Amino acid sequence: MTAAPLAAFLAELDALRADAAAAFAAVTDSSALEAARVEFVGARGGRLKAIQKLLGGLDVADKPAAGKHFNDAKTAIADLLAAAQARLAGATAADDGGGIDVTLPGDPVPRGHFHPLTQTVRRVQEIMGRLGFESVDGPEVEDQWHNFEALAIPAEHPARDPLDNFYLAVARGSDPLLLRSQTSTVQIRVMEQREPPLRIVSLGRVYRPDTADATHYPMFHQVEGLLVEPGTTMAHLKSVLRLFASSFLGGDVHVRFRPSFFPFTEPSVEVDMEWGGRWVEMGGAGMVDPAVLAAVGYDPDAVTGFAFGLGVERIAARRYGVADIRDFYRNDVRFLRQF
Ligand code: PHE
Repeated sequence: MTAAPLAAFLAELDALRADAAAAFAAVTDSSALEAARVEFVGARGGRLKAIQKLLGGLDVADKPAAGKHFNDAKTAIADLLAAAQARLAGATAADDGGGIDVTLPGDPVPRGHFHPLTQTVRRVQEIMGRLGFESVDGPEVEDQWHNFEALAIPAEHPARDPLDNFYLAVARGSDPLLLRSQTSTVQIRVMEQREPPLRIVSLGRVYRPDTADATHYPMFHQVEGLLVEPGTTMAHLKSVLRLFASSFLGGDVHVRFRPSFFPFTEPSVEVDMEWGGRWVEMGGAGMVDPAVLAAVGYDPDAVTGFAFGLGVERIAARRYGVADIRDFYRNDVRFLRQF
């Protein structure tokens, strides 16, 4: 048996290193990497193993040098394998979001905003606050006294008809309870608690069994205003409403009073606001009726005041140009996003 020449052995070793370098650099997934590992360094049938067997056939004198070259190649191929493993592991981590590129633009955080009616309520509170009106709350479940009696709406009054109100199935003793039909209840609650002078505004939900259409809904919002101060007149009422209207709607808004009737104001008026060349009814108002002042324990000969009640949906629809108030309650983001 003739010994294999050293030069041929070394040439085969170099070719193996070159093939391994190319193969490990080309793998893009773990199964290709495993296939390359088996081909080059597999314990049985791997190409490195096959070359190792050739070592035994070399001249004894050539063996030390050949062995050193073989070990160098073995180490180099192990390094190539490790590098390929590290490269694939890094790519997987990046896919998982483990690699963060801080130079990429961030994901925008969507920002919401308040519902247009809430925006309207806050705006009204802010404007009225500047005129000295404190914002107060009242309950939505009311008794006969605050919703009717103290407001001079007697038992036989048609406004108390069960068909025109949401009476509750539960009563407080013999006193039927109902969802308040107006925020004027808060006038009574505040005057019962405090002495004049006072300026309050109260915004909240009211309930009436109306059929829903473009301008009606069984639940809606009112803004109630009450001012009780010595020497108060209708002129003050009109000025406050005009200042409010021009602040809320912008520009010089004209306010018009039309004679009307409410049991709890005398005289009573309907309030219209002229905006964009049209008169729009915004609510009711008047001088607080002496019977109401007496009901809360005030001296009707000593104090005077005015009150007004406006529809929040109505003034919001006016301001934003909304044709159908039901849009306020549909929770359609395509509508809500516009405010
Ligand atoms: N409460 C009345 C309504 O709901 C409006 C109003 C309020 C009228 C205050 C006069 C004074 O229609």
